Amino acid sequence: MKIGIAREIKPQEGRVALLPRHVRELVDRGHQVFVEHNAGTLSLADDAEYIEAGATISDTAEELYRNAQLIVKVKEILEPEFVYLRSEHIIFTNIHAALDKKQLDVLLASKCLAISAENTHQFGSPNCTLAGEVGALEAIRMTLAQNGGTGRHFMAHFGEAAAKAVVMGLGNVGRGALRTLVPLGIEVVALDIWEGARKSVMMDYHGSKVIVEDIARLEDYVYDADMIINCVLWPKEREDHLIRREMLGRLKKNACIVDISCDTGGAVETSRATSWEDPVYTVDGIRHFCVDNIPGSVPVTASAGYGEALLPKIIEIAEKGAVQAIRDNIWLARGLTCIDGELILQEAGIYQKRDYTPLEQWLGRH
Ligand SMILES: NC(=O)c1ccc[n+]([C@@H]2O[C@H](COP(=O)([O-])OP(=O)(O)OC[C@H]3O[C@@H](n4cnc5c(N)ncnc54)[C@H](O)[C@@H]3O)[C@@H](O)[C@H]2O)c1
Repeated sequence: MKIGIAREIKPQEGRVALLPRHVRELVDRGHQVFVEHNAGTLSLADDAEYIEAGATISDTAEELYRNAQLIVKVKEILEPEFVYLRSEHIIFTNIHAALDKKQLDVLLASKCLAISAENTHQFGSPNCTLAGEVGALEAIRMTLAQNGGTGRHFMAHFGEAAAKAVVMGLGNVGRGALRTLVPLGIEVVALDIWEGARKSVMMDYHGSKVIVEDIARLEDYVYDADMIINCVLWPKEREDHLIRREMLGRLKKNACIVDISCDTGGAVETSRATSWEDPVYTVDGIRHFCVDNIPGSVPVTASAGYGEALLPKIIEIAEKGAVQAIRDNIWLARGLTCIDGELILQEAGIYQKRDYTPLEQWLGRH
């Protein structure tokens, strides 16, 4: 198959979908790989290394999309890329279709086959862990006085307690956040709705000062926190919130919210996605950090993890064809977003109130 690796154009996004070592494996298997000029530069993989691995460099995005059938990316398809989409394309990237009606309209109109990579990870995306680790670091930076924070140190000293963090959601992202916070000495309250996640954190941090509770106890802790870190996977169709706007006025003065999930109107009512160029905004005196591509800030590490996770699925698609690969691999099927103008991804159908074909029904036909 002809596989294309596009250069990311989102601001401050340094990741690339596959590194040269991943490309070599595809080339060794007989596939033709095209890499857009400078796609790997910020991940410390230059064009010469891709050529060495057997790839052909495409000078422009237009050329890449013209040369390749399977287009692999990290972030969603952005407006300047819309014009390149054709019905022959298989698009495999983090689409986040439910929240992006414009992109979904274009994918459907192009009649391409699109797979949302974020839904295909059986063991969680390795980049989610990085998002939690880096996001927590941002929360710590935001507690520093010169950044408008509460000014409480992240370690206990001179009789003063360490800064307090409330972490909501203890999945891949939440546990990443704990990995940054706990060793530094921050007092952490870790909350989740699911007992399994809570038990697993209790085991990991047995003997440490982490308090693990049901999310129902949120209001017992949140008003005393210096930083609140949201890592909940919020169902798109839910209309309620864990942190409602009226609660902001009751939070500790100069506390901050780092919303790693960053769903507009999600678990935090006042959240909307931001970028690394302008990461923080303030509502009712509370600073919100809601960058939606946090791992893009550690591209060297993140690209390695992303490539490892995607490579087996790319091989499956390239060797069987996309439809057969989707039939054979339920994790790929979970990411099927649209094909030939037909919407399959249930969460996008429900959230955008548009017609969709349930996955089981589509699989029954193919
Ligand atoms: N900003 C970024 O750069 C970035 C990067 C990666 C992931 N994310 C986002 O982070 C979020 C979390 O991802 P993840 O991989 O950790 O998901 P996950 O499924 O591993 O974990 C989500 C956790 O949320 C818990 N949860 C669900 N509903 C809850 C509720 N009502 N109250 C409390 N807990 C609840 C679940 O039990 C689970 O433990 C996702 O929305 C993902 O898109 C953002």
